[in-house]
Amino acid sequence: MKSKIEQLKNDALALLEKVSDRENLEALKTDVLGRKGKLNELMKEMMSLADDERKVIGQFANELKGSIESAFGDKERFMFEQEELRRAEDEWIDVTAPGNFPDAGHLHPVTQTMVEIEETFKKIGFTAARIPEIDWDYYVFESLNMPGDHPARDDWETFFVDGPEGPKGKLVLTPHTSNSQVRVMENQKPPIRMININRTYRRQSDTRHLSMFHQFEGLVVDRGITITHLKGVLDYFAKTYFGPNRTTRLRPHHFRFTEPSFEIDISCGVCNADPSVNCRLCKEGWMELGGAGMVHPNVLKSGGLNPEEFSGFAFGWGVERTMMMKEGMNIDDIRMLYKNDLRFVKQF
Ligand code: DAH
Repeated sequence: MKSKIEQLKNDALALLEKVSDRENLEALKTDVLGRKGKLNELMKEMMSLADDERKVIGQFANELKGSIESAFGDKERFMFEQEELRRAEDEWIDVTAPGNFPDAGHLHPVTQTMVEIEETFKKIGFTAARIPEIDWDYYVFESLNMPGDHPARDDWETFFVDGPEGPKGKLVLTPHTSNSQVRVMENQKPPIRMININRTYRRQSDTRHLSMFHQFEGLVVDRGITITHLKGVLDYFAKTYFGPNRTTRLRPHHFRFTEPSFEIDISCGVCNADPSVNCRLCKEGWMELGGAGMVHPNVLKSGGLNPEEFSGFAFGWGVERTMMMKEGMNIDDIRMLYKNDLRFVKQF
């Protein structure tokens, strides 16, 4: 009997030695130490022994049972430690390593320009207006001193929306942002200092023109507003947006909604408007930016204001054009801006 138990122990320890995974360890444990395991079988056999003998053998068997159990325990602990080590190795990460940043985008260069223009005017008290980009003929033309079939309308190659006319005429895709002028005057009493940046549409497309582009429109109305205020605001914008040594010049022009009207030129950043320099970039030191003028009395009237009491100035330029004229831009085709070519867009 004793040797049988001894044998069981030796067999169990030999098998235990070879076991290399938890599953087999569990199986072996059940086989040896389980309720119906080999050791219990032997214990049962012991019941048939005489009392004295059973006492001795029983003690012996219990000792062996203890040592088998502790051998299993040791093995279990060892395996657990090995697993932990392996996991630590497999799942090791360097928490101090710099992360992988997702590819972060940025605003489109035209949007950046719009934000910059708006911020520039906000600094001197202008408020941004939100005005429809599809608007009634009345706000786009009629209220701006351009009645029904006035030939001046031809300057704006306008897209009209097919559909029934409303009380304020047809719907049009705004060909300029000047529709904001009367809309703002209808909603706000002077002093008015508004900046409106919006999409505009014209039937045109070449290196300098797009059928969809953006304009920004400024309007200032109050008592005693003169051309000097206009000139001051334009020079402020030229210096803030283009650079401290830039300035503007007003050239007489004609618009139906301003009197007098001007084309605004900005001094060339390369030759600084020095006529003695034979500049390759500009025409005689100046580059054309856009239109401006003193708000026509009829437009003030459309806005419900008395032209005897109030005066104002307005200006309207292309956003893309303004951006392209910034130093170092080097964009020679306006259509590049809307090609969705990331190699281009990422440069800004
Ligand atoms: N709306 C004109 C255009 O698109 C530009 C313009 C001229 C706007 C004179 C003005 C202005 O506000 O006073 O050609």
